[in-house]
This record gives sequence, structure tokens and C-alpha cells, in this order.
Amino acid sequence: MPNREDSSRPFLLLVDDDPEIRSLLREIAGRGGFEVAEAANGREAIDALRRRHVDLMLVDLHMPEASGFDVLREARNSRTGTQIALMTGHSSIDNAVEAIKLGAGEFLPKPLDLPRVRRLMDGVRVEFENRQALLEHDADMAERLECFGMIGRSPAMQELFSMVRRLAPHARTVLVTGETGTGKELVSKALHDLGPRRDKRFATVNCSAVVETLFESELFGHVRGAFTGATHDKAGLFEAAHGGTLFLDEIGELPLAVQAKLLRTLENGEVQRVGAVEPRRVDVRVIAATNRALDEEIVKGRFRSDLYYRLNVVEVTIPPLRDRIEDVPYLTAAFVRRYSREFGKGVSGVTPEAEDRLQQWPWPGNIRELKNVIERACLLCEGHLLTERDVHRALQERPRLAVRLAVGTSEEEQGPPPTAQEVREALDDTGGNKSLAARRLGVSRRALYRLLEKYEDANPGTGA
Ligand SMILES: Nc1ncnc2c1ncn2[C@@H]1O[C@H](COP(=O)(O)OP(=O)(O)OP(=O)(O)O)[C@@H](O)[C@H]1O
Ligand SMILES: [Mg+2]
Repeated sequence: MPNREDSSRPFLLLVDDDPEIRSLLREIAGRGGFEVAEAANGREAIDALRRRHVDLMLVDLHMPEASGFDVLREARNSRTGTQIALMTGHSSIDNAVEAIKLGAGEFLPKPLDLPRVRRLMDGVRVEFENRQALLEHDADMAERLECFGMIGRSPAMQELFSMVRRLAPHARTVLVTGETGTGKELVSKALHDLGPRRDKRFATVNCSAVVETLFESELFGHVRGAFTGATHDKAGLFEAAHGGTLFLDEIGELPLAVQAKLLRTLENGEVQRVGAVEPRRVDVRVIAATNRALDEEIVKGRFRSDLYYRLNVVEVTIPPLRDRIEDVPYLTAAFVRRYSREFGKGVSGVTPEAEDRLQQWPWPGNIRELKNVIERACLLCEGHLLTERDVHRALQERPRLAVRLAVGTSEEEQGPPPTAQEVREALDDTGGNKSLAARRLGVSRRALYRLLEKYEDANPGTGA
């Protein structure tokens, strides 16, 4: 942890073309508990402000390249949240008024009144320490509120946790719904881990990733000779999960023929291997998850209503993040702590401006998107706080996609398939969220995966 010590010290930027003033102030600031950097002109100062969060800046008015006023303007325009004192040997009322207007909190005539400089530094350090304590508190709170990896302080999430706790010991079949990235997999795992089968298997099948023709055999198994390539008997996932839990992720993608068979298994607790005559009894808890509106899928003829009613007897719905924005600071604190440790950075939180930005974003990709944004911002961050600029850049950064401007085809869908350009734009607009992107493009998630695979084949080695 190279920056660990510095992360607990406020950061001071000294901006003056006079090296003697800089070394005098560096001395005082070092003793006052600051980490110090120097800039010999306005341009260097502006660069430094763009790179990292600065808690306090002492800036000279008259300098070559860019004046103290230019530096103030930059700090104000990019809302860096820096406290600023403007120093000058040519103090005038006009200058002082202009400095205050541009956001300088103090105006220090030269020669400097050193006790006043020390008081200024002490004030900033105390404020810094209070903010650090608050950020620590949020991260601790997030850890305490955690329920099987899920963080949430909002009433909606508290209600959800309590529902999960109540259901876990009993429910045989649960349907977990919610937009992409809201935590359906986490909830499903929690239902298993809090239930009586926690020591048994939790088998997962992602229905959008299984090739349609293999589905039946994947879930229910097959006997030797049942189809070409079936060289020996094979148990399906239902049998493998016997005594435990089978998690059917993206159940909205389950082919209709398999839906009928699944319904039978749910109703009578039996599976029939493909090609077998006799059914076998299985004891499996089934948790199904989907980000699709299954009632709409029923209307479109893509989902069986009888299976839907069998599944949604117990339904857990996770609200989207934009409807519980009060959870954002806790999630942020937890993710910052995690990635800061992982990357060996001394990041302890976000600036108030960055926090505003995070609160205002609509989070179409929900918690997954927030997590990714914080991860990217932590990578970019050079200071001890994520700035609005770090967050902005992390939000803007396009998901790296190996999409060539080739046209893909999808067998399932009507009409011309989306072009690679459209696919890329849809992914960009949805923060890399494949389910939302697929919905926006009007194709199934599976079709989108196939398109991506195609582009990946055309351009291997660059991760999608
Ligand atoms: N309440 C939460 N607290 C902390 N992390 C969360 C929470 N909810 C989700 N996450 C994290 O967000 C990411 C997405 O969660 P998950 O995979 O469970 O979502 P999902 O609803 O299954 O999404 P999709 O529909 O795209 O499959 C995961 O990294 C998960 O750890
Ligand atoms: Mg999922």
C-alpha cells in the first residue's frame, strides 16, 4: 500500500514562481500534516488540479504562463472542491474582490502573515479529518449492513433482506425479478445460503447461454444412444442438484419445448432423461431469475403462462437503483474501499461534487454499472478522493468492444439484424449492459451474445 500514509493526510498545492516562498511554505505545511506538491507557474497548477484532488491550494497572483486568476477559474469551472488562498505582493481592493468572486476563500497579502497561514492550514486539516471520518463511517456502515454480499440501507432493500430471510427456510420455488445488474444472482445465492440446503449444491444454468438443442439433455440428462453423440448415459443438472438448489438464470430465454418439461418436473418432482422410459425422482429447490417482463413474454407467445403461474407463487422483485438512490453513498463507499485495497491505492472516498454526480446518474445498468464505474474511477484516481472528473471520465469511458463494422445476422429475429455500429451504440448507451442493450435493439439477449461472438471471431484477442 504505497500511498496509505498519504491518504490520511490532506493534499496541498503550492503555486508560486518564487522558489523561496515555495520552500518556506512547504516547510510549514509539512509540519502542519500536509502532503505537499509544488507548481512553478499557473499552467503546472492547472495540470495538477486536473490530475488529482487538491484539498488546499496557495496560489500566487502574478506568474508567467497562466495567472493566479486563471488557476482559480479552472478550479471553479471543474468544481474541484479545493479550498484556495490567493497570495499577492500587489494587493488591491479590485484584486481581492475578483479573487473572492472566483472562489478564493482567503486573500493573503505578501509578505505573508505566517501565523495566519498556519491557522488556515489547521482549519483545512481538521475539515479533512472530519470528512475522512465520515467516509470511514459510510464504508463501515455499508459492511455492517451487508446481507450475504448485498448492501442496502433503503427501506426497499431492508424489506427485501427480511423477505429473503423469511423465505429462505421454506420456499421450494422462487422467482427473482429485477432489471439487469440489480443483484438477482446475489439474492438467489442468499436464498440458498440461508436455507436448509446451504451445504448442498447450488447449480447454475444460464438459459441464455445454452444452445437450444442441448437444453433438454443439459437439464434432464440423456441415455446412451438418445441422439447422435450421446455415447453414454448422462445425468442432467436436476439430478446433479438433487438435495440442493438449481438456479435457472435468465429463465425468460428458456425454449418453449423445455418450458413444458420443466413445468412437469416442478409439479411432480420427476425428471425424465432424454430417451429414457422411466422417470426419476428428484428433490430440488428451483430458483429462477429474469430481467424480462414475463407477462409480456406470455402475450408474445414466448413464455408459457402455466409455468409462469407455477413460478411466481413466490416472487422476489428487486427495485432498480434509481428508485433507491439513498443506497448509492453506501454502495460507493463499499466499492471504493474494495477497489482501493485491490489496486493498492489510498482512495478513501469521493468528493462532494463527485457524490452529487453519482446521485444524479440514472444507472440503467444498476449496481453492476455503479460497481464498474467506481472500479474505473479508482484506477484513474491519483489522489485520496475520487473527483467529479474521475467519475465523469469513468462514466464516459466506452466499454471496450471488439466490434468491427461488419453486419451480423441473427436467425431468430425478424427484419434486418442490427449493425455492429448499432450494437456498439446500444451497449454504450446502456453502460455495457447486455440485457438492456438487447432490449433496446429489439433482439433477444441470446441473439446479442451471438452477434458479439461473431464480431469477436472477426477480431480475436480484444476482449468484449
Ligand atoms: N445490493 C448489492 N450490494 C453489493 N453489490 C451488489 C448488490 N447487488 C448487486 N451487486 C453486485 O452487482 C453485480 C451484479 O449483480 P448480479 O449479477 O446479481 O445482477 P443480476 O440482477 O443477476 O444481473 P443480470 O440480469 O445482468 O444477470 C455483481 O457484481 C454483484 O456482486
Ligand atoms: Mg444475473
